Amino acid sequence: MALRIRTVRDLDEQAAAFSAIGHYFGWSPTREDAERFSPLLPADRMHAVFDGDEIVGGAGAFPFGLTVPGGALPCAGVTVVGVLPSHRRRGLLRRMMDTQLRDVRDRGEPIAALWASEETIYGRFGYGLASISHNIDADRHRVAIRRDLPHDGSVRLVTNDEALRTFPRLYERVGRTRPGMIVRTRDWWSIRRLDDRPETRGGGGPLVRALLERDGRPVGYALYRLVKEGSTPETWTKTIRVGEAVGVDDAATREVWRFLLQIDWTDRVAAYHLPVDHPLPLLVDRINKLRLSVWDALWLRVVDVRASLAGRTYGAAGEVTVEVVSDPHFPENVGRWTIDGGEVRRTRRRPDVRVAVDGLGSAFLGGISFGQLARAGRAEEAARGGIERADAAFRASAAPWCPEIF
Ligand SMILES: CC(C)(COP(=O)(O)OP(=O)(O)OC[C@H]1O[C@@H](n2cnc3c(N)ncnc32)[C@H](O)[C@@H]1OP(=O)(O)O)[C@@H](O)C(=O)NCCC(=O)NCCS
Repeated sequence: MALRIRTVRDLDEQAAAFSAIGHYFGWSPTREDAERFSPLLPADRMHAVFDGDEIVGGAGAFPFGLTVPGGALPCAGVTVVGVLPSHRRRGLLRRMMDTQLRDVRDRGEPIAALWASEETIYGRFGYGLASISHNIDADRHRVAIRRDLPHDGSVRLVTNDEALRTFPRLYERVGRTRPGMIVRTRDWWSIRRLDDRPETRGGGGPLVRALLERDGRPVGYALYRLVKEGSTPETWTKTIRVGEAVGVDDAATREVWRFLLQIDWTDRVAAYHLPVDHPLPLLVDRINKLRLSVWDALWLRVVDVRASLAGRTYGAAGEVTVEVVSDPHFPENVGRWTIDGGEVRRTRRRPDVRVAVDGLGSAFLGGISFGQLARAGRAEEAARGGIERADAAFRASAAPWCPEIF
């Protein structure tokens, strides 16, 4: 029987479409799960593959905003992508990606973004690795904030309601200068970020919400859980698993991390997805005891080159011309694009740099430079000094940071 793709029509179909990815998490999604997600992921953004009446694959896209240098753009946040093992390698992911990307373009969302389960999958669909993140697994007894740094502010543990009132404004302030952050709605905060149902705890305790105040004003927060391993006090290892730690300025960031590194009777502090320019490695006395590791973070697809390029700001005045040499889905993206004073136009000018659309996705948030791409054989300098000009333009004031996997 032919395999068909369409968007789901009700919550039962939506739950069945989640089951494809659920299979790989040992999760059997219910109608209630679909209902809880539906304010963030409407039915018309959830594609499913049908084998007869059975749903055997799914791919969703959250319609959200993503911060980019100088602002935010509508973005398809690709999520819950899966194909049941009974139907693997029959081209179903490819068909879902083709259908979804066309839908994204038709809706006028200029970019799409995702976290990849495996780094080898999404390049073929035009996604480029747009940000790299640092994870830490700190040995808490052997690492501390440097003694020469001042103390500033105090921390209170707050209720979910107070977190919902105060944290979003702090997060938004950070997002004004950080590309790669989801523009979170109130639903996003309560359904995802502050969700503390037992099944979301991943073996840890309840969610702790810590608010940092300076002169009585909120300036930072941390979300974390305590995870206890081992069966007796002698064998216990207690880890502070940080979900998100945010400060509105350098001092606030430092104090949030001082708080996390000083929680008594704990052994480790684990945190994920920190941006590569996060100050923590330089704030502590012993960088190696953070046990830093590097991971891929956000992958970005430039769906509409003109709208994307026109939707961010640039670090240097003056013209720069980028030639997009290939795009596996959208031939209209291919060609030469001149960026000049915020205007983007098609051009016949000699380009500064040549890149495939996935390479442009890597460079788009300013997290990966054209120079890095060129050295890795993923971009080409097309005019003398062209890479330098393009990098001066695409540079952002801060490295991309998406603090959460979606
Ligand atoms: C990844 C997954 C969705 C692939 O689905 P699929 O229907 O088997 O994929 P397709 O048959 O459409 O393959 C499309 C292309 O991707 C490649 N591909 C598929 N899965 C891949 C993987 N895990 N690693 C590398 N390449 C992969 C195929 O080789 C094929 O390449 P080609 O067309 O360029 O020759 C499926 O294996 C799955 O559900 N995996 C577990 C969950 C998961 O990883 N989901 C993604 C979440 S971000």
